[in-house]
Amino acid sequence: MNVSLTGTPGTGKTSISGILSKNKVEILNLNKIISKKKIKFEYDKKRKTKIVDIEKLNKYFDNNIRNKHLLIIEGHLSHLLHCIDKVILLRCNPNELKKRLLKRRWNKNKINENIESEILDIILCECLKFHSRKNIFEIDTTGKSIDSLGLIILDIIKNNFKENKIYKIGNINWSEEIFDMELI
Ligand SMILES: Nc1ncnc2c1ncn2[C@@H]1O[C@H](COP(=O)(O)OP(=O)(O)OP(=O)(O)O)[C@@H](O)[C@H]1O
Ligand SMILES: [Mg+2]
Repeated sequence: MNVSLTGTPGTGKTSISGILSKNKVEILNLNKIISKKKIKFEYDKKRKTKIVDIEKLNKYFDNNIRNKHLLIIEGHLSHLLHCIDKVILLRCNPNELKKRLLKRRWNKNKINENIESEILDIILCECLKFHSRKNIFEIDTTGKSIDSLGLIILDIIKNNFKENKIYKIGNINWSEEIFDMELI
């Protein structure tokens, strides 16, 4: 089973992957694959962002990834891969996300772009284009420790991705946050 661990940058994919990997879950970091395997991308100078050729990425995975055991592919594009069976989508309150992203040396526009994307459910909408609702598990990371989030995901795995009211999509809604929050 191939599982996407996705979410807006800063929601904690890489941090939580560390916990999963300590618990013997096999993790593949999509950014590392893109650079190691020289998957073609263009660089948008203005947005300071890589624009990855998703078809090339899919070709690499179609040719190289078998669907034998549990594999978690982490990265904010991983839900776009054809080989994905289940999706774990990390979410974060935009105010907290702003704090996390401010710690990075990213430019203002890039931080704002990601906060807006989180508020507008952009990744969730992309997930819904490619995956059925029952295969998407949405987890609010706000105020939760990385360890506890690791345990939540281990539990979902242990339960063989059985549908779960708490993590079904639609429970998270940041629209109210827009009134309290200021972009930077
Ligand atoms: N649950 C959490 N509570 C507090 N801080 C967190 C949490 N998860 C992640 N962070 C912090 O937020 C920052 C971003 O985390 P991380 O790099 O894991 O995000 P990411 O989703 O992998 O981002 P990217 O898509 O850019 O790779 C780090 O400084 C990390 O320590
Ligand atoms: Mg990361």
